[in-house]
Amino acid sequence: MKIVVILLAGGKGSRFGEKKQFIKLKGEPLFQFSLNTINKIDEITDIILVLPEEDLERVKVFSFKNVKKVAGGKERQDSVKNALDTIKTADIVIVHDSARPFATEGMFLDGINNVKKGYDGSITAIPARDTIKKVENNIVSNTLDRKNLYIIQTPQTFKFDVLKKAYQKAYEDNFLGTDDASLVERIGGKVIINKGSILNFKITTKEDLILANCLVGKGQKTKPPI
Ligand code: CTP
Ligand code: MG
Repeated sequence: MKIVVILLAGGKGSRFGEKKQFIKLKGEPLFQFSLNTINKIDEITDIILVLPEEDLERVKVFSFKNVKKVAGGKERQDSVKNALDTIKTADIVIVHDSARPFATEGMFLDGINNVKKGYDGSITAIPARDTIKKVENNIVSNTLDRKNLYIIQTPQTFKFDVLKKAYQKAYEDNFLGTDDASLVERIGGKVIINKGSILNFKITTKEDLILANCLVGKGQKTKPPI
């Protein structure tokens, strides 16, 4: 069985203020954290590391797996598409954001097992803890039922054939989704959730870096902004 990970590190980090995938956490570039976790999973044989085109040559990767570097696209979805287009054959494809350095081996393994059981996709999720309301122009229109709401993370794991078909259809229809599963859902794919964690947060702004540094046990050099 061929299992490929698409590790996304092709963004600009506009909300963070720089390309966050390369910032150092405990001396290692952020994207390397995900590689270190993936390295421990024997079943995964291949990694496609998506990088900004201008960084393709210079970025050094440490992995026991076969790592192929691919240039990213304008949107996250374009970066996944570029990576998918380079895969000739595979059984399972896992998409993961390098901006989530604390994804666990278990999250990858649960996704793989769910897809092996026959689901088209398995996505890492945590139940919504806060009340979520729909708001338009600062005015609340309604309160959503929290028991049906989940916060979705990565890794997201799919049958390769299904994800490939979902991407083809999305591009035919000019559909831009906010995650990979949404593309699979719209072609009727059956997607299950696997257990995520509040610690599997995405580093999006500088505040998130403060949290990340706390988790890896490095003292703060600068005072938090709040
Ligand atoms: N990503 C990518 N290619 C893009 C955009 C994003 O590979 N064109 C990757 C990022 O590197 C990140 C992940 O997708 O690991 C999630 O994206 P996000 O957190 O939005 O990162 P950025 O797009 O870099 O940040 P921003 O949206 O603030 O510019
Ligand atoms: Mg982005």
